[in-house]
Amino acid sequence: MSTTRILVVCLGNICRSPMAEGALRARIAASHLDGRVEVDSAGTGGWHAGEPPDRRAIACARRHGVDIGGLRARQVRSRDFEDFDWLLCADADNLRDVRRLAPVEARHKVALLLDWAGTVPGGEVPDPYYGGDDHFEETWSLVDAAALAAVERLSTRAGLGIIVP
Ligand code: 4NP
Repeated sequence: MSTTRILVVCLGNICRSPMAEGALRARIAASHLDGRVEVDSAGTGGWHAGEPPDRRAIACARRHGVDIGGLRARQVRSRDFEDFDWLLCADADNLRDVRRLAPVEARHKVALLLDWAGTVPGGEVPDPYYGGDDHFEETWSLVDAAALAAVERLSTRAGLGIIVP
């Protein structure tokens, strides 16, 4: 049985993308896709590499029953374009930066998370880093809705990357 691999990307990999990773992991684990989808996250910047998520992101995810405290930040690397089927970006800056890094043959794998999931066409996940707890709650509601929609998308044969004859 094939495995689909998803990498969520933001700037620092300490707020939005680890929250999205946590939401995706939880929604997938609760679905029939459990064991068939792998999820990771990374940042376009490397300033926080090796660090756990921002304590506000950890607290927000915990309020929603998801533990992201064990995640550690890392920067996007060239191997990611081979290792993952989808590189899903939080905002338009991340999308531009990841597309610039992508080899031509992998460019079609790079998309905006909310657009790919279909929850907010063309939509971005705003950076909560300089905001308050309400901004983190807004981030959670966006990424969790996308995670729920992602399970739907991945449940179709096309979403799993299988060519429908
Ligand atoms: P993230 O948020 O991209 O959602 O992880 C940020 C985290 C750190 C910084 C910016 C955004 N920073 O400038 O250090």
